[in-house]
Amino acid sequence: MKVGFIGTGSMGRTLIESFIESGALEPGQIIASNRTMQKVHQLASQYPGLQIATSNTETVVGSEIIFLCVKPMQFKRVVDEIEPIVQDHQILVSITSPVQILHLEDHLRCKIAKVIPSITNSVLSGATLCIYGSRIKGKDRLLLEDLLQSISRPVIVEENYTRVTSDFSSCGPAFIAFFLQKWIDAAVETTGINREQATCLASEMVLGTGKLLTEGRLTPEEVQTRVAVPGGITAEALHLLENELQGVFHQLIRATHTKYDEDLEKLNVLFNRTEVNRPQY
Ligand SMILES: NC(=O)c1ccc[n+]([C@@H]2O[C@H](COP(=O)([O-])OP(=O)(O)OC[C@H]3O[C@@H](n4cnc5c(N)ncnc54)[C@H](OP(=O)(O)O)[C@@H]3O)[C@@H](O)[C@H]2O)c1
Repeated sequence: MKVGFIGTGSMGRTLIESFIESGALEPGQIIASNRTMQKVHQLASQYPGLQIATSNTETVVGSEIIFLCVKPMQFKRVVDEIEPIVQDHQILVSITSPVQILHLEDHLRCKIAKVIPSITNSVLSGATLCIYGSRIKGKDRLLLEDLLQSISRPVIVEENYTRVTSDFSSCGPAFIAFFLQKWIDAAVETTGINREQATCLASEMVLGTGKLLTEGRLTPEEVQTRVAVPGGITAEALHLLENELQGVFHQLIRATHTKYDEDLEKLNVLFNRTEVNRPQY
């Protein structure tokens, strides 16, 4: 099977590296193109056998699956470019949340899927969100999920929930890292603890907590109950967080959804689909 990548920026590159490092794909099974060619040349020297395409159409021809890894506002240009040559049996995978399946199915005759990856996939962990278009058949799902399984836990979601699910799986690592950074800064400032040691402890803690929630099957509430003895130190601090973070997560969800809605509006104009809106929850 040949897999094509259009766009080898941060996420395109991460996906290629992860598929190769996990053993799911050989470099020889991959063909890639990017606006700035130097990025593809770098990948080809890192992974001998990876095929450099000099155009996006060259990436598409002969690929069974094509990952489209450009930013939302760069989609229409690529779609127009590949429209005349895509074929019915090919699977085009968009990795960006605001571009709708409908936008792509309107313009391309191939099968369409949306797969939202995460930086966590670079360590063969975390989820990939899978959203399938109307032309995707059972065997196409199996093919995609078999590939994604090697770098993640594929989770099928409804397109209506693309934004909120992406908040957890792909924005989430940045949110948790922000929380840790602020906590570590405060610990260094307040107690003088060595930053490296605080960072090491915080990182091990997040890894262990993740395992409790996945392998250990504890819920977030159960983790809190197991750690916080009534009247104890943890309970005191949890009480503080409860009061101080009142409403913050509602605001966070509003912020990501407002940006998504802005992108969607621009994309609707580009793709001539003014009636497509994100359903209100
Ligand atoms: N970063 C994440 O954690 C994450 C997670 C999930 C989904 N995503 C989504 O992934 C998408 C890409 O994000 P990114 O962080 O990888 O952005 P990025 O680093 O800017 O990569 C985009 C790449 O697309 C290339 N490109 C632009 N127009 C092109 C064209 N016409 N033909 C071929 N290549 C073209 C750019 O080439 P140049 O080198 O010339 O700029 C660049 O290398 C975004 O929509 C984002 O929402 C990202």
